[in-house]
Amino acid sequence: AGQADDAVPDTLAEAASVIQGCRRCPLWRDATQAVAGQGPPEARLMIVGEQPGDQEDLAGRPFVGPAGNVLDQALAQAGIDRASVFLTNAVKHFKHEPQGKRRLHKTPNAGEVTACRWWLDHERRLVRPRVVLALGATAGSAVLGRKVTVTAERGQPIPLADGSIAVLTVHPAYLLRLPDEAARIAEQARFIEDLRRVAAMI
Ligand code: URA
Ligand code: SF4
Repeated sequence: AGQADDAVPDTLAEAASVIQGCRRCPLWRDATQAVAGQGPPEARLMIVGEQPGDQEDLAGRPFVGPAGNVLDQALAQAGIDRASVFLTNAVKHFKHEPQGKRRLHKTPNAGEVTACRWWLDHERRLVRPRVVLALGATAGSAVLGRKVTVTAERGQPIPLADGSIAVLTVHPAYLLRLPDEAARIAEQARFIEDLRRVAAMI
């Protein structure tokens, strides 16, 4: 199971169920569960993160941890109702390595992103959002199917083959990691600006 002969899901609910048995890459082994995308099936905006974090892995829901809190606040400030957004990730299982008692996030590699595109592509087909906002380079490469540099393409509408529009911005975890408070405030404002631009497209 879990190979190229996987049945094509007809609904988001079916995808969310079948993904629990996915063996397309090795990441299922060390994770609690797969975290499928969540949100209204008719959402006009899809937001794609990198992969579930520690809290998402345990809860089975995307963006419920610290990065999710940053995203929530920024969405609210941009006038976007989180409940109206379909939230998902490029990779659906939490990749991590132990650091003491904690599980430290590890960036998924290109093979894992490519394997997991099977699921992201089905989510995009089933939701058909008008805009797909990718948070960070991993999400951007999963959405566009090529290598991306966020700084080079940030904030610009990029037409996709299915008629939707991709937009790239930074990942909220990047904002959390900025040590300098002034830089963090400035970058947070830029992030909210990107979300406002997206709000005007949907
Ligand atoms: N970071 C992500 O990219 N996705 C989540 O769901 C949580 C944190
Ligand atoms: Fe399947 Fe994606 Fe999990 Fe890999 S990370 S096992 S491709 S659901």
